[in-house]
Amino acid sequence: MSKTFYITTPIFYPNANLHMGHAYSTTLADIIARYRRLLNDDVYLLTGADENTEKVVRAASAANIEPQGYLDGIVQNFKTLFQKLHISYDQFIRTSDEKVHWPGAQAMWQRLVDAGDIEKRSYQGLYCVGHEAFITEKELMNGICPEHGEAPQQISEENYFFRLSKYTHLVRGKIQRGELEIIPETRRNEILALLERGLEDVSFSRPSHKVSVGIPVPGDASQKIYVWCDALVNYISALGFGRVDDTLFKQFWPADVHIIGKDILRFHAAIWPAMLLSAKLPLPKRLLVHGFITSGGKKMSKTLGNVIDPSVLISEYGGEAVRFFLARHVSPFEDSDFTPTSFKDAYNADLANGIGNLASRILKMAEDHLEEPITIEENLIPEAYTHAFDTLNIQRAAEIISETVARLDRRIQETQPFKLVKTDSEKGKAVITELVVDLYTVGRMLNPFMPETSKKIKELIKGNRMPSEPLFPRKA
Ligand code: MSP
Repeated sequence: MSKTFYITTPIFYPNANLHMGHAYSTTLADIIARYRRLLNDDVYLLTGADENTEKVVRAASAANIEPQGYLDGIVQNFKTLFQKLHISYDQFIRTSDEKVHWPGAQAMWQRLVDAGDIEKRSYQGLYCVGHEAFITEKELMNGICPEHGEAPQQISEENYFFRLSKYTHLVRGKIQRGELEIIPETRRNEILALLERGLEDVSFSRPSHKVSVGIPVPGDASQKIYVWCDALVNYISALGFGRVDDTLFKQFWPADVHIIGKDILRFHAAIWPAMLLSAKLPLPKRLLVHGFITSGGKKMSKTLGNVIDPSVLISEYGGEAVRFFLARHVSPFEDSDFTPTSFKDAYNADLANGIGNLASRILKMAEDHLEEPITIEENLIPEAYTHAFDTLNIQRAAEIISETVARLDRRIQETQPFKLVKTDSEKGKAVITELVVDLYTVGRMLNPFMPETSKKIKELIKGNRMPSEPLFPRKA
C-alpha cells in the first residue's frame, strides 16, 4: 500500500478576491502535493474558504449583495483562480457547509466539553473585527488597530472559554521533541518562547445575538462557536470527522503538512495542538510557516491597498509562469518583496531565456541530427532536489532546476555540438544525446512546478521534435 500524504492550505476569508499572498500559500501546497504524487504517495490536498465571519457580512452589505450570493460569487472566483494556477486540490471546503463542516466542529466542541476543558465565564475585552479576535491595549496605536486601521469595540459578555493554559507544557513538549515539527527554525523558536511565557485561556464562543453567522454551540443555542473551534477544525471535518462516513479521516489524519502564513502561527502551533490533545486526537506532523509577500516593503493586503491580482499576471504570462515565479523567487521561510518589474525580469531570465531557450536549442539539435528518439531510462533526479523537497525548501528545489539549466547552457557553449557533428558525427551525436537525457531530467524536475511545460518537454523528447513555437515568448 502506498504511503498517504495529507497536505492543507489555510482556508481563505471570502471577503475579497485572493491576491498574490494567498496564491502563494496554495501554490506551495500544490507543488508539494504534486511532488509527493511523483513518489507514488496517496496524496490528499485540501483548500477552502473560511466563511462564518462578520467580515463577509460587512463586505456583502458594502457591495449591496445578500451574504450567500456574495459568498458564492467570491468562492467561484477562488476556484477559477485555482484552476488557472493548476491547483490540483482534492476538496474545497466551505465552513458554511452545514453538512460537511458543521458536524465536525460540533463533534470537536463536544470532545472538549467531555475533557472538561470548556467553561462559561464572563468576559470583557477589546474586539477587533478585522482580526476576528480580541486584542490588547498594547497592540493598539492611538486607540486604533494598526493592521486594520480601525478602533476595536469594547465588549463585555458571557462566553465559553477553552482551557488552553492547561496544555501549555504538553504542546511545548511535543514541539521540543519534534513530534510537531515547525519549519523554519525561527518560527519554532518564536512559538517556544511564547509557550515559555505560558498561554492564557481563550474565548471559544460568542453570544448568538451578537453575531449573524456561525455554528451553534451544541446544547446551547444562545452561543455560537467562535473562530478557533470553527476554522481550525476544517482540517478534519473535511475528512469526515464527526460524520457517519469518516473513512478519509481514518485514512489521512494526522496531516503531514499544514501550510500557513506567519500571522496564523499561534493558532496553528498553540491552540490547534491543544484542542487536538484535549480531544485525544493525533497532532499534525509538520507546519510550514511562510513569510509575507510584501509590496513596497509592506505586507500585501487589501486593507493597505497594495495588492497584486494574480489573474492579471496569469493572463499575460500564464499560470505556470506565476507558479514558477512564486516558487523560485519567494522564500518559503521569510518575507519577499514583489514588483511587476521583478516578475517580468524573472520571467525572461528563468523561462524565456532559461528553460524555454534551452529546450528549443537541445530539441533542435536532436531533431536535426539524431535519427530517432532516444530511449529514456528513468534517470536519476539530483539528490539535492529530493533533499530540498524533504525539508520543504521549495525555493531551493526550483533553484536547482535553474542551476541545471545554466549548466546545460554552458555545456552547449563549451562543446558546440552543432559544429562537432559536422567534423565528428559520432562524438557530436553522443553529446547531443547526453544533453537530451539531461533535458529530460529538467522536464521531470519541472513536474511539480509547471506540470504542463514538464509534459510538453517530455513529449517533444519522446517524439524527437523541436517545439513549433517558443515555450515562453520573450516579453519586452
Ligand atoms: N481564515 C484565516 C485562516 C484560517 S486557517 C484555519 C485567514 N485567512 S486569510 O484569508 O486572511 O489569510 C489566509 C492565508 O493567506 C494566511 O496564511 C495568510 O498568512 C496568507 N496571506 C495573507 N496575506 C499574505 C501576504 N501578503 N503574503 C503571504 N501570505 C499572506 O487568515
